[in-house]
Amino acid sequence: MKLAAPLRASPASAGAQADDVLLAPTPAAWVTAAAARWRELLIDHANCEKKAASTALALMFAYPEDRALTLTLSRLAREELRHFEQVVSVMSAQGVGFVRQRPGRYAQKLRAALRTAEPQRKLDLLLMGALIEARSAERFRLLVAHLPRPLVPLYARLASSEARHFAHYRDLARAAAPREWRARLATLAALEAQLATGPDRTLRFHSGPPQDGQPPPAG
Ligand SMILES: [Fe+2]
Ligand SMILES: [Fe+2]
Repeated sequence: MKLAAPLRASPASAGAQADDVLLAPTPAAWVTAAAARWRELLIDHANCEKKAASTALALMFAYPEDRALTLTLSRLAREELRHFEQVVSVMSAQGVGFVRQRPGRYAQKLRAALRTAEPQRKLDLLLMGALIEARSAERFRLLVAHLPRPLVPLYARLASSEARHFAHYRDLARAAAPREWRARLATLAALEAQLATGPDRTLRFHSGPPQDGQPPPAG
């Protein structure tokens, strides 16, 4: 999907930039667990796409005077909803039913670190969006080599889409606070790296490696 031309980044350059912003790579133990439990992960993945659209819409309501933000995130939200539909389509084809899951710690803990007063909150929300998109792009790319073949085309496409989303959020953050965004990004990236790499009680798309030792389900 084409997004606003002035903010567009090529998928290849956006991918490299998205990786650069992450302060720690996803541990191999997460990739192994996620690939083994891909059915369970698909359900969380579908929720993440819905949540990404919802977050973009919430920002549009919070900052309606920022036209670059509202137009960019309007297009981004539509793209996230299409991703949701594509994940649901793969779930249907693979016989994966919907099961309610408790949210993981990742977004909750990141959100708890955001400042509450404006204009700092706007910057923090945009940087949180950038970091989540960057981690998503990294994990889609890592998973491609380990997933069953029917999932590979979707995950390969999503790796470049989410890297592009990272670039949009980063550019909006830079425009919102040209002097502060880089230092604040480093602070939030340190927390993000802890959450994505530290042992976690639950396996989720953005979790750390699971500490439960749960064996992979058959199939
Ligand atoms: Fe997405
Ligand atoms: Fe995204």
